[in-house]
Amino acid sequence: METNSIYGPFEEYLPLIMKGLTGRITAFNEECRETTGHPVYEHFLYRIKEDKSMREKCVRKGFPVTTRSALRELFDAVGLRIITRFLDDVFKTVEFIRTIPGCTVVMEKDYITNPKPNGYRSYHMILDLEVPYMDVDGNVPGHYYAEVQLRTLSMDSWASLEHEMKYKQDIENTKLIVNELKRLADEMASCDISMQTIRDLIRS
Ligand code: GTP
Ligand code: MG
Repeated sequence: METNSIYGPFEEYLPLIMKGLTGRITAFNEECRETTGHPVYEHFLYRIKEDKSMREKCVRKGFPVTTRSALRELFDAVGLRIITRFLDDVFKTVEFIRTIPGCTVVMEKDYITNPKPNGYRSYHMILDLEVPYMDVDGNVPGHYYAEVQLRTLSMDSWASLEHEMKYKQDIENTKLIVNELKRLADEMASCDISMQTIRDLIRS
């Protein structure tokens, strides 16, 4: 059967690669729940980037609209977002991800230690996953990228609010809103620290 997907014949592997990754993460959460009594994250979301958005992103980034661009020049065909209750759970999960067999961290951005100027906070990792499927270079085992974003519940709710603003063109008071969002992000960051301090008092 002819496939018109930008992912070409590799399209069918992407959900399997996602399943492998989410399986590891879920098992880690269960292990944390058993050993400490607390889950390390609240929930996660995942998606395979849709054909249309992947094509648009290739164009936007100046790459030819090809399977190779989708799987080698861009890194987020497979995307996972992990939401935690506490700040230190982000870093615990990051450390766990480094230990996943066949997983190499090829890029990292710690927007928690160094927030973006707009106030955006999140920990981003690009993973190179070795998997038992052929990749775009014809290798088996193959290599596929995945993007993981880790953030607390408050960082996540901030990011969705900010996202809403970014994609709404005709808003008045843009400057005021941008300033308020920045202020809010900093307030929420200090709440995340308080949450953790109070948790430690409760648990000690
Ligand atoms: P892309 O532009 O996505 O290719 O990546 P990049 O090289 O700019 O990487 P970065 O790690 O900065 O952003 C990757 C993803 O993080 C984005 O696609 C968003 O999902 C999220 N993100 C980054 N910055 C912001 C931000 O300022 N606000 C919100 N709401 N999300 C952001
Ligand atoms: Mg970006």
